[in-house]
Amino acid sequence: MAIYLDNAATTPMDQEVIDAMLPFLQQKFGNPSAVHSVGRPVRAAIERARKKVAALLEVSPSEIFFTSGGTEANNTALCGAVRDLGVKRIISSPIEHHCILHTLDHLEKCYGVEVQYVPVNEQGHLDYSKLEELLEKDTPTLVSLMHGNNEIGTMLDFERVSLLCKEKGVLFHSDTVQTFGHFKYDLQKTPVDFMVCSAHKLHGPKGIGFLYVSGDHKISPLLYGGAQERNMRAGTENVLGIIGLAKAAERAYEHLETERAYCTDLKNYLKTCLQAEIKDVRFNGDPDGRSLYHVLNVSFPGGPKNDMLLFNLDIEGICASGGSACSSGSMQGSHVLAACQSDNTRVSVRFSFSKINTKDEIDRLMTILKKVMDPA
Ligand SMILES: Cc1ncc(COP(=O)(O)O)c(C=O)c1O
Repeated sequence: MAIYLDNAATTPMDQEVIDAMLPFLQQKFGNPSAVHSVGRPVRAAIERARKKVAALLEVSPSEIFFTSGGTEANNTALCGAVRDLGVKRIISSPIEHHCILHTLDHLEKCYGVEVQYVPVNEQGHLDYSKLEELLEKDTPTLVSLMHGNNEIGTMLDFERVSLLCKEKGVLFHSDTVQTFGHFKYDLQKTPVDFMVCSAHKLHGPKGIGFLYVSGDHKISPLLYGGAQERNMRAGTENVLGIIGLAKAAERAYEHLETERAYCTDLKNYLKTCLQAEIKDVRFNGDPDGRSLYHVLNVSFPGGPKNDMLLFNLDIEGICASGGSACSSGSMQGSHVLAACQSDNTRVSVRFSFSKINTKDEIDRLMTILKKVMDPA
């Protein structure tokens, strides 16, 4: 049985989520836009799901739009801000997910948007004084900064950026794919104009997410067609996904504190074992500081065997990740590590946890690591 330590990539679905979805695969098959007795209950279920999600964020259901996931939600927010809200400049960072970076390239090329990147330090923390300096210029601006980095785990000071954007009168979008369902948001205290969710990161189904758009704004859709999602996203709704997302989000919030404590413990345990048993081990990001509790990005010395580490771990039944930009067994191709100026002669592996993992699995990982690594 494989040991799955790649929960930042995706998580297995909860049985309760599957149970909630099953009726919509079977008897509750109606088209939610149909006004007859087979369609109406499905429409009602979608609206109940929307209300549930909105209640978790303490926002209005009219501010939640279901999408095909984090990528579409982020694209919709960025493109909408430029097309409909007069944004002329976007300030972001070089460690964003590619669904942000490639959208920014597109907006720069096709819409002439000025895009500025605030550098990060070696741990992936933003240069906040540079952000403040850039915000001195009086241009219609959107700040787009991820809350938690999916590769190295470093987290944004969300409150600081939220309050700064409010003070400067600029829009704030945050890619919250790795944090929604892991951290509680208080959007009254720390407002954001756009935030997003991807259900498969919190034991929900793949291919479904949502975009939160503050009620102050009206943006146009990416997809044109029917009037679904109040004209914000055409196409018959992914009913099954929406039901699963709401259930997964509800469960994530219910167990938020216990899961946080549990995963923090696993992360610290692995970190301690690595430090005790592997020579010259280092960590990317800031695992002891402002960091996602479910991500530990480990940097091993380079060497003939270590360079094949991810591959050899896979052969031994350990599923970990080299990050989103690399598939060769190391993370030397990662744009995130490059932005953090990490030493590219070393080999980086991301281990990411959820409630499915145990300390026994970490013990097993340590045994295998010692077997497949270069002798120190
Ligand atoms: C930070 C971040 N943003 C966006 C995405 C994309 O989400 P989705 O897979 O739902 O399109 C991911 C997924 O890996 C992510 O980690």
